[in-house]
Amino acid sequence: MARVDNSDVAAFWVNPPTGSNYAEVINLSFPDFRDAHMILKLLVSRKRQAKTWARGMTEEEFLRREETLEDQEHAKDNFTAWALVPRSNTTTLDYPCSCETFRRKILVTKSGVIETHIGYGIASVFCAPEHRRKGYASHMMRLLHHVLAPPSALPEFPVEWGAPPPSIYPGVRDAQLSVLFSDIGDFYAQCGPTPTKPGWIIKDPISTIWKMDFITGIVSKSIDIPFEWLTEDKCKELWDLDSAYIKEEFSSMAVSIETLDSPGFTFLPSDGVAGYLLQRVLCEAPLIPENKEMKHFGVRMITKEEHVSSIYATWTLDMELSERPVITLTRLRSTAQYFPALMIQLMREASRINAKSIEVWNLPSGLVDIATNMGGRTKPRVDHLPAVTWYGPEDMQNVKWRFNEKYFFSNA
Ligand SMILES: CC(C)(COP(=O)(O)OP(=O)(O)OC[C@H]1O[C@@H](n2cnc3c(N)ncnc32)[C@H](O)[C@@H]1OP(=O)(O)O)[C@@H](O)C(=O)NCCC(=O)NCCS
Repeated sequence: MARVDNSDVAAFWVNPPTGSNYAEVINLSFPDFRDAHMILKLLVSRKRQAKTWARGMTEEEFLRREETLEDQEHAKDNFTAWALVPRSNTTTLDYPCSCETFRRKILVTKSGVIETHIGYGIASVFCAPEHRRKGYASHMMRLLHHVLAPPSALPEFPVEWGAPPPSIYPGVRDAQLSVLFSDIGDFYAQCGPTPTKPGWIIKDPISTIWKMDFITGIVSKSIDIPFEWLTEDKCKELWDLDSAYIKEEFSSMAVSIETLDSPGFTFLPSDGVAGYLLQRVLCEAPLIPENKEMKHFGVRMITKEEHVSSIYATWTLDMELSERPVITLTRLRSTAQYFPALMIQLMREASRINAKSIEVWNLPSGLVDIATNMGGRTKPRVDHLPAVTWYGPEDMQNVKWRFNEKYFFSNA
């Protein structure tokens, strides 16, 4: 298979203006040709993705879902789509591949000091089938470092790759790090900012899974602790509070003696970040035949002492439309004492909607044995592998991803 000549292609910004939609462009009613062209590029990309990622939806349903999600809080002013285009024909719609980035505020700790930085989540890496295995996607990912990170944090742009990406893109070149969730193993580790530097390094892809068919007895156990179910709005309120708890915990981790020398970072669930996965479910739910009414996406313990308890879980549903859904926790916060009761609540909900399983990412170590006693199995998973690249002098292997849970997941 002929490989691409890296100096012939460049990363190209295809960000659509907020509020635009594909139909406007197809009808050619969009006022600005340049904007229209960007949206057309995105539309081409989405139509390609639909063939692989629509998971039972029609192309039209998939496009509608994506368009709806692009207008949500998590994407507003933070979303950019990128395409790899030939330098000789940047407007072609037959470009080989594309991906997307979401710009986020993150907390970072270096030598015990907490700072706010910018981190990027990368999603929807996709190469058109007819262009595959020629090195396009890997080269696009290599170029991405040079549009996301400040040049001062990167090695020199390799001369054999031609001219570096221009600095015309808004809101970029400010990254402390970027992350992605790989479904293709360690492919991204080879995509560094030069041919010899590493790209994205996998961090802690650990899941605990309860298969509902094997834990039926636990669901009927009685518990005398009161819980309340959380609607979408209540979940949003909770994630604001949760972000404050994360900041607090992150600060104490930063000064703990074992980790003082390791840089660490975390994303926060507020500002629509955790809400994105919930919005996705809401877009898909009406498409599921016989779907059980899904009116809550979180559960929280009610306590007498505190107005708001700090024992809770929120979740999203992973759905193949022809299969039973999986409840994946977006955030979990619990002490060992109350964890069994919280899990029983989650199992009841799983049972109500006929879910296949419950899954949580990187369960805190103090809860793993309890989970095992309740039928959960903790082991490395093979998909959605969290991976990070760090733009700084510190050794990437030592960088700790705190609260590496599902809430930050953004993918197709
Ligand atoms: C994955 C994908 C983006 C690769 O694009 P590409 O331009 O062909 O990639 P490159 O030519 O740079 O690299 C090809 C290498 O990717 C790796 N690769 C591709 N698909 C893979 C998969 N499903 N699992 C593991 N590795 C894979 C292989 O190492 C392959 O090398 P080979 O040609 O020697 O077998 C493309 O196959 C695609 O769009 N797939 C469907 C969407 C998808 O899975 N995206 C990734 C989401 S995390």
